[in-house]
Amino acid sequence: MQNLVVSAEEAASWIKDGMTLGLSGFTRAGDAKAVPTALVERAEQGERFKVNVYTGASLGSNIDKMFAEAGIVNKRLPFQAEPSMRKAINTGEHLFVDQHLSHTSELLRADIIDRVDYAILEAISITEDGMLIPSTSVGNSASFAETAENIIIELNTAQPEELEGLHDIYNPEKQGKRKPIPLTKADQRIGTIGIPLDLEKVRGIVFTHQMDSPSTIVQPDEETEMMANHLLEFLRSEVSAGRLNEALMPLQSGIGSVANAVLHGMVDSEFKDLVVYSEVLQDAVFDLIDAGKVKFASACSLTLSDEKMEEVFRNFGKYRDKLILRPQEISNQPEIIRRLGLISINTALEFDIYGNINSTHVCGTNMMNGIGGSGDFARNARLGIFVTKSIAKDGDISSIVPFVSHVDHTEHDVDVIVTEQGYADLRGLAPRERVPLLIENCAHPIYREQLWEYYNEALERGGQTPHVLEKAFSWHTNFKETGTMRQTVTW
Ligand code: COA
Repeated sequence: MQNLVVSAEEAASWIKDGMTLGLSGFTRAGDAKAVPTALVERAEQGERFKVNVYTGASLGSNIDKMFAEAGIVNKRLPFQAEPSMRKAINTGEHLFVDQHLSHTSELLRADIIDRVDYAILEAISITEDGMLIPSTSVGNSASFAETAENIIIELNTAQPEELEGLHDIYNPEKQGKRKPIPLTKADQRIGTIGIPLDLEKVRGIVFTHQMDSPSTIVQPDEETEMMANHLLEFLRSEVSAGRLNEALMPLQSGIGSVANAVLHGMVDSEFKDLVVYSEVLQDAVFDLIDAGKVKFASACSLTLSDEKMEEVFRNFGKYRDKLILRPQEISNQPEIIRRLGLISINTALEFDIYGNINSTHVCGTNMMNGIGGSGDFARNARLGIFVTKSIAKDGDISSIVPFVSHVDHTEHDVDVIVTEQGYADLRGLAPRERVPLLIENCAHPIYREQLWEYYNEALERGGQTPHVLEKAFSWHTNFKETGTMRQTVTW
């Protein structure tokens, strides 16, 4: 295969206008780095072209930023989390398909979305029997390798060699011919340690030496600690009721600072022998392993802060037999999430008085990041929990509103909502039973009266889910017009 070694510039020169690229990478981990950068350089030298960009999730190494600023994206899917790209999406400069992260590989396998012309996949090695060993994420790389016309491999010598043996690659058959996915425990291996490669498709191999971009999570603060305490209080009540024991059920925790901080809150709890079955492993999971709380963690990527990355890779032997990295269609697989009975914890932007959740759209129109895996998990978990601070932007935004301005998770998929004020357990409650709990336990005190006012007016009109439709979005329109959702500002 030595004859296939080329420069990043040469590999990038094969990519033509209108092509579709499948890039490795999942929340800043294991992304292809050199060839995408060389592609941007072509645009900077004046060449005009556009490509579709599929990935596992968001990318690091400024790839999404450079792609957006160079204007070379036609359509991007299934997730991003980068300010320049967010701007390009919201101004309509390029298209974005916000997709459940378990869906992309099904759409590719069934030939529904454009086929991938070039899969560009980061790896740490290629085995003698032709398997590609991914680096810090698996993401959609196995699906891209299987369905793409051509493959370019980026062999990254900066990624730790110890990652070999960590991955478990399992590729489900086509729908209709598929057998049950034989995974019944988070620590079970069902596949191979690498991605089987069709060597005929490998067009080039590029050597790189660059670590992943560190995650940008903000450390826990007073409010996230309060949220963690409320979550623990809820979990304790489940244990007291005999529905859970101290090992709980496998945990999933979403991306972002809030989810990381809330999970971190378990470090000092009585819970033990915990198992994680998630898509991203952030810093908190390693703190929980160190504290002897988590005994095993399965995911599809390792996304760590600078400090944690250095520490984890320096002591990798300590973690190696406690981790598995899987393709995202397995980490986020509804069949397995339901079978394992996950407790799923994801972050919302806003929720409404009946428990619908908006995770993606600011004021109903502007894309933040995307739904990511939150829908894969919330809908299929044993316990779908959403966390958020009760207010944003110094109190000008209430995270609980009369009607969410965009729905990602319907009231049917939301079991528990936690804010720094408290928690509301919505299971088995009718819409009219949920409202008092959500207002009194979760809303910020400065918005409670306003919420009651809306609900009482709605009650006069009746209905299973009472609303004053002409006022349902008035909080969002007030914010747009006056800069605050508050009716009277007294502080
Ligand atoms: N309206 C407008 N903006 C809001 C808001 C609201 N109701 N609630 C929060 N925000 C803003 C915050 O002010 C903050 O803005 P800033 O970046 O300018 O400071 C930003 O949204 C992020 O909020 P933060 O409280 O720091 O939370 P986070 O970093 O945990 O991110 C989400 C929260 C919802 C954006 C993030 O979790 C996400 O993208 N989720 C969807 C995908 C997902 O759940 N994946 C899970 C499976 S991995």
